Formats: sequence, structure tokens, C-alpha cells
Amino acid sequence: MSRPVCLVSGSSSGIGAATVAEFAAHGCDIALNYNSGRERAEAIALELRRQHGVEVLTIGADLAQREAPFHLVDQTFAHFGRLDVAISNSGVSNLLRDARGKVVRYRFHETPIDHLDQEMERVLSLNLLGAYRLAQRSLKLMIDQAQRELDAGAQPAHRSILFISSISDVAPDSTRIPYGVSKAGLNHVVAGAAFEGGAYGITVNALRPGVVDTPITTRPSGIANEETGKEYTVAEIYDLMALGGSQPIRRIGKPEEIAAAAYAFTHLPYMTGQLIAVDGGFTLINGFPNRELFFQEGLRRRRQGQR
Ligand SMILES: NC(=O)c1ccc[n+]([C@@H]2O[C@H](COP(=O)([O-])OP(=O)(O)OC[C@H]3O[C@@H](n4cnc5c(N)ncnc54)[C@H](OP(=O)(O)O)[C@@H]3O)[C@@H](O)[C@H]2O)c1
Repeated sequence: MSRPVCLVSGSSSGIGAATVAEFAAHGCDIALNYNSGRERAEAIALELRRQHGVEVLTIGADLAQREAPFHLVDQTFAHFGRLDVAISNSGVSNLLRDARGKVVRYRFHETPIDHLDQEMERVLSLNLLGAYRLAQRSLKLMIDQAQRELDAGAQPAHRSILFISSISDVAPDSTRIPYGVSKAGLNHVVAGAAFEGGAYGITVNALRPGVVDTPITTRPSGIANEETGKEYTVAEIYDLMALGGSQPIRRIGKPEEIAAAAYAFTHLPYMTGQLIAVDGGFTLINGFPNRELFFQEGLRRRRQGQR
């Protein structure tokens, strides 16, 4: 019998790369997708074949383009003849760079109109539309497979679709509204697809990571270290906040921890339609553990006559 097949979009880096490694370690054949990182993708594929003896198909595709997500799923199915797990992971932040490569960050109400449109289009075309299309075609092919099993008088095997979403689907950030919109939009895709897949043994869920140490979070934060003058990365800022008690687990996440959760969540036949945070408890904050901080800040502002 052939091995289970797992497709992971954006698996040339970060969480996606850790996820293909996790599935390969469990004996799955892999469809590994990259956009700009062809060399990285080939190196990962080589290593997975060597370490685990599984088949790895690398497919370059810009999933922000209309037809690309459909082709990616079709190519995977044409090559392996089956699709057991589809993970939509590719994603970008909405932050745009200027001509010198510096990230441009505006507060919402101060954002120029062109910039406002560009950042929303950039992030929705991949994070929402790309993921939506990838899930649609995966669900269709999975239902076809299940129907063939039903026609043959067998129970359909468990198959699964997982979105790597984010706690940003609800956590507010006024400079990253498009990113939050893209992830919040996926919540409705999860629910709709879960209803259609259920009768065929297909589960559909979203895994919502908190802050994870990957290239997406190693960009400059705009905040300088007071002692060295060197700018902190976003990951360093959140790691310090975690250390200071902003979340129960006092560090940011590792890609391997999200990958382990992705494997678990795609192997639970009775869990579907769920939006699950794997975030070290970040979403428990609600301001409460920071009461001392906020109190001190309130006192400081009152002393300065501010409201
Ligand atoms: N890191 C975090 O703190 C965090 C938290 C919550 C959610 N997430 C989500 O986790 C997912 C993975 O992010 P990451 O942190 O692992 O970031 P990452 O290391 O930057 O990886 C992003 C992946 O997406 C791919 N990608 C980018 N543009 C693409 C396009 N147009 N078409 C196809 N693939 C494209 C990249 O491929 P190439 O490198 O080959 O271009 C790369 O493999 C994203 O959906 C992100 O929103 C991350």
C-alpha cells in the first residue's frame, strides 16, 4: 500500500518546513511548495528523503496567482494518486517596504490611500484567497476519493484539511488590520468546509499560532535596545514580553511545536470546524496579568496631566 500523502503550502521556510519534517518523520510522502525559495526547498527535500526514505515532490508556485492553488493540488494528486492531508500554510504579513527595503508602518487612520489598498490586496491575495482556493480544490479531491471508497462499499478513510491561521484573527493590532482580516476570513472557510467534509470523513480545522520564531518575526521591530542602540526584532520583543509575564509560558514558540500540533490536529477524526490557539497562553492575557504595568502607566499619565 502507498504511504499517506501530505501537501503543505509554503514549506520552504519556518512553520511549513518544520511541518513537512514532522509528517515525513511519521512516514508520509510530501508535496513541498515554495515560492521564492527554490534552493531552500530542494535542500529540505533532499534531507527528508535521506532521513526518512519518503518521496518528496517539490512544486514552485506563487499561490497569490488565481490558478496556482488549484494547479498545486492537482499536481500533487496527479503525481501521488492520493491526497490525505492538505495544509494551507503560506502567508505574508501586510507590511510593505520602501525603496530602501525598510518596513513602512502607519497607524490605520494615517495610512495613505494607495498604501492602504496595496497592503490589503497583497495580504488577502495569498493569505485568504490563496488558502480558500487551495482548500476548495483539496476538499473536492478528498470528497471524490471518499465517494469512490463508499461506492466500493468501504468506510472512507479519515482525511484532513488544516489552515495555519493565527491568533491575529482576533488579537487587535492597528498596524496589521489586513493580516487580521485575512486570518479572520479563514474562520468562515473552516466552518463551511467542515460541514461539507463531515459526511465523507474529512475534518477541517484552523491552527492559530501565537508568536513563533521564524523569518516572518525576525524583521526589525522599530524599537531599539536602550543599552546597545541595536533594534530588536519582533521575535525578541515578544520573547521579552513573554518573559515579563504577558503569557503563561514565558517564551515565544518554536516552529517544531506548531508542526507537532499540526500533525496531531490532522489525525483526530472526531475534531472538526475548530479554531485552536497554540500560543503559550497568549490569548489568555486580556490585559489582566499586566495590571501592574497598566496601573503604573496610568499613574505616569495622570502625573503628566494626560488623559
Ligand atoms: N511566525 C509567526 O509568529 C506566526 C504566527 C501566527 C501565524 N503564522 C502563520 O504561519 C504561516 C507560516 O509563516 P512562517 O512564520 O513560517 O513564515 P515564513 O518563514 O516567512 O514562511 C512563509 C512561507 O510562505 C511562503 N510564501 C510566501 N509567499 C508565497 C506565495 N506568494 N505563494 C506561495 N508561498 C508563499 C514562503 O515561500 P518562499 O520562502 O519560498 O517564498 C514560505 O515558505 C503563515 O501563514 C503565517 O501567517 C506565523
